[in-house]
Amino acid sequence: MKVLITGGAGMIAYSLIPLLLSGLMFSDEMIDLNLLDIDFAKNRLEAVKMEIEDSNFPKLNSLIATTEIEVAFKNIDVAIFLGGFPRKQGMERKDLLLKNFEIFKSNGIALEMYAKKTVRVLVVANPANTNCLICDHYSPSIPSKNFTCLSYLDQERLTGLVSRKLNVKPKNISNLIIWGNHSSSMVPDTNNLLVNTNLLNTNLVKINSEKCVLDNDEINLVKNRGSSVIKKRGLSSAMSAANAIMKHMKVWFNGSNDKIVSFGIKTNNNYNLKNNLFVSLPVTTKNFNFEIVDNLNISTIIKEIKQSVEELEEEYNTIKNKLN
Ligand code: LMR
Repeated sequence: MKVLITGGAGMIAYSLIPLLLSGLMFSDEMIDLNLLDIDFAKNRLEAVKMEIEDSNFPKLNSLIATTEIEVAFKNIDVAIFLGGFPRKQGMERKDLLLKNFEIFKSNGIALEMYAKKTVRVLVVANPANTNCLICDHYSPSIPSKNFTCLSYLDQERLTGLVSRKLNVKPKNISNLIIWGNHSSSMVPDTNNLLVNTNLLNTNLVKINSEKCVLDNDEINLVKNRGSSVIKKRGLSSAMSAANAIMKHMKVWFNGSNDKIVSFGIKTNNNYNLKNNLFVSLPVTTKNFNFEIVDNLNISTIIKEIKQSVEELEEEYNTIKNKLN
């Protein structure tokens, strides 16, 4: 499997590469890894390449570290877009929109020109949802269903919180959902929470939702976790982002076994939300495809979800005149 990681010299890549090349993402697949970064980061990219060579990872088949777009995108099966101007303290993710527009336009054009038409794309750099829309726009011959952006980090943050609250191991928790934008307007939703009470992994119980109602502080903790990390670390999350990327790709590729996970994907008449925006929605996955779960009762949170989608519409309106 030929995998491209942009921002290859960056911090998330540094945490992600060992997970990918140890087989945690794509099981037994051997990986042809292409790392792309800008000229400015050339030396650091070379150093990452040296460290990969010195690690003898079991799933590495071939390695390219390059600053050339055509070399990086040629015939790729998977693209993970980490490269972009990073968020600093005091900035909202959407403040990066105009800064990162050209990067995601160029990513979209390069996908269209060089990648396999079956390529699967995950956008991580912020504002991830609208960057994903830009990429999709510039790759008209690649199906929109192949484009996703990351909500799994928010889902993991919510899972951790619920796990600590209920004193249940995270692996026994599923069907927690993130709706909307990857921003502080997102809607963490515990209404469909399932807890596995059986060690044989067969007995899933829909937990009485009163037991896991989150108070405002807890909801805000999830919504603002990215900012909280930036504040304390001076840098944005890298280890947890890499872990979430690994899980997103793994569940997309291997399937979610009918469990619900959250993917940022293009809306298409779902829950009466505005179409053609990239919104975090509940999906089930199988064989590198996903199905939107569109029969959940969201009457108690629809207003908030719509507000988050309105924010995405505003982001879209900011760039729509630049899309050509
Ligand atoms: C995160 O959620 O940690 C990342 O998207 C970085 C950020 O800007 O918050």
